[in-house]
Amino acid sequence: MPSHNKLTAMAYNLLKGKKGIIFGALNSQSIAWKVAQRAVQEGAEIVLTNSPLALRMGELNALAEECNAPVIPADVTSNDDVQNLFTKSMEHFNGGVDFVLHSIGMSINVRKGIPYYENNYEFTHKGFDISALSLHRVLATAMKMDAINEWGSVVALTYIAGQRVFPDYNDMADNKAALESIARNFGYFYGKKNKVRVNTISQSPTLTTAGSGVKGFGGFIDYADKMSPLGNADADQCADYCVSLFSDFTRMVTMQNLFHDGGFSFTGVSQEVMESMGK
Ligand code: NAI
Repeated sequence: MPSHNKLTAMAYNLLKGKKGIIFGALNSQSIAWKVAQRAVQEGAEIVLTNSPLALRMGELNALAEECNAPVIPADVTSNDDVQNLFTKSMEHFNGGVDFVLHSIGMSINVRKGIPYYENNYEFTHKGFDISALSLHRVLATAMKMDAINEWGSVVALTYIAGQRVFPDYNDMADNKAALESIARNFGYFYGKKNKVRVNTISQSPTLTTAGSGVKGFGGFIDYADKMSPLGNADADQCADYCVSLFSDFTRMVTMQNLFHDGGFSFTGVSQEVMESMGK
């Protein structure tokens, strides 16, 4: 796919003076990786975090160096780890944070190719804890510790399978539905308490480690690209959108699920897909 993204070359200082925590950068394909780079280009200071398992892969060090960011390990299923992450981040920044990116997803059922209707509930529980409940845990911990500044912004990444059926998305579909619901509900309470906003971005299929774990992902990407009037949104463009939501230009946007998908979600069928059907 051609890169139609000229914006990333430019910086507007949209996040000047802001401080944030970025979850989920695993390698240079990760959406969170691009968000980290883009946020720093826009003047933010960041802390990077991922599970101890992911950190053992060692790739995050290069990004940490590039972004001049500390890496603080946290398994999002652990209350202690998440609490420690906020404690250390607040020490590092000498105060609270202005934005948080939740870019985390994992399903053992998907990994093992177990179909939805035969899901193993131990695997389902684990995936739910990592992919959905973790947003609640992060927000609840931050609220208790008063770790997010007024008008702070929290963004979690989701996929349209949380709202419409995509058979091979498996139990991640339920996880995403719950994730979107948690963003909406916590957005209410955190908005009331401290004017913190919480949104989800529903991103086009994107070639990453998590993405390519989904069965038939290549076909999926092509189909979405043909269905979307603007084509699929790539990870760099997703990073641009995240930055806009962390910025002061979107201060009254909260509790929303925001589609970043080139128009896919509201297209019934495209000419290209129709033509391929006639063949
Ligand atoms: P990725 O594989 O690069 O990122 C997933 C991250 O979750 C990894 O960094 C992994 O280490 C982290 N993670 C897993 N278990 C964890 C745990 N216990 N504690 C802390 N972190 C843990 O893949 P990608 O695609 O960048 O995924 C980021 C987010 O974007 C996910 O929520 C994914 O569902 C979402 N998304 C991805 C799409 C795609 O097509 N790639 C489309 C729409 C949404």
